[in-house]
Amino acid sequence: MINKIIEGDSIELIKKIESESIHAIISDIPYGIGYDEWDILHTNTNSALGGSSIAQQESGNLFKRRGKPLNGWSEADKKIPIEYQEWCSSWACDWLRVLKPGASCFIFAGRRYAHRCIVALEDAGFTFKDMLCWEKNRAPHRAQRISSVYDRRSDPINAQKWMGWRLANLRPLFEPILWFQKPYKTGGTIADNVLYNGVGAWNETALELYNNFAEIYKIQSNIIKVKTDKDDQGYHVAQKPLRLMELLIHLVTLEQQIILDPFVGSGTTCVAAKKLGRNYIGFEIDPKIAKAAQKRLGEETVKQLNMSEYAGRNVK
Ligand SMILES: C[S@@+](CC[C@H](N)C(=O)[O-])C[C@H]1O[C@@H](n2cnc3c(N)ncnc32)[C@H](O)[C@@H]1O
Repeated sequence: MINKIIEGDSIELIKKIESESIHAIISDIPYGIGYDEWDILHTNTNSALGGSSIAQQESGNLFKRRGKPLNGWSEADKKIPIEYQEWCSSWACDWLRVLKPGASCFIFAGRRYAHRCIVALEDAGFTFKDMLCWEKNRAPHRAQRISSVYDRRSDPINAQKWMGWRLANLRPLFEPILWFQKPYKTGGTIADNVLYNGVGAWNETALELYNNFAEIYKIQSNIIKVKTDKDDQGYHVAQKPLRLMELLIHLVTLEQQIILDPFVGSGTTCVAAKKLGRNYIGFEIDPKIAKAAQKRLGEETVKQLNMSEYAGRNVK
């Protein structure tokens, strides 16, 4: 399984991984907000979910099945977060099992249901260590001007009164990265655990190298600013920046250690792991996406050999 992207359901595949064999899990899991087909993790068939509103149509492929605004939700809609938490619980115990004591687990989770993910992992036995803030440079956003609604209703008085007011959310330029740790065993300190299992501490060099906020926040900030470059697009609708994955990998692992991403998508975590001399395992349920990721890993190998990009970058 090592250094492969494997096509299949990670909830089943992870059962084949030996206990306490993984040094870090880093994963951009489905957020459960109906972003795409793979992001629908509830059984609600409410007719409001189905992508037929004007906003949903205009957003093209994004947020196809997002549903009605929060305050319009029916009782059935209110079960969606609970079902999301149940889904997280269906894999959390195996994630804990495969990690080495003291190892880190970073999860990209959406702002809406991150709390559900935290509770599921805490219940499974993880320690919730921190919530990092990834400050993005771009994010899809739609917040309708309410005055234009009143304009369409031929209500100029209210259109004027509510000028400058909008509906929906602020532009979501912050994304949480949840940082969990597998508890280390009793009978020693975390410093002992680092020597025994090779994990449990974090490396400040990672922040110096990759965090664009390092200068302002004096390197130890939990606010991480990494831009999405043009190279960070085109493989997956939810593709994460390569530099961001490199930062997280460099922060908590050493060369040769093993990184697992059970929801690997286009393979960004694995590409970053490979570049940094770590071993990796990636799982992806969609056959087309899995194939594209496998190809990407192959392409990246060639690119890396040709360019030896990291030779001069002091990443060790
Ligand atoms: C948010 S995307 C990951 C994108 C990734 N960060 C990238 O840079 O390409 C989550 C991925 O998890 C996959 N997925 C969903 N459920 C899965 C499951 N049970 N097992 C494996 N993969 C799954 C989806 O098909 C999707 O590609």
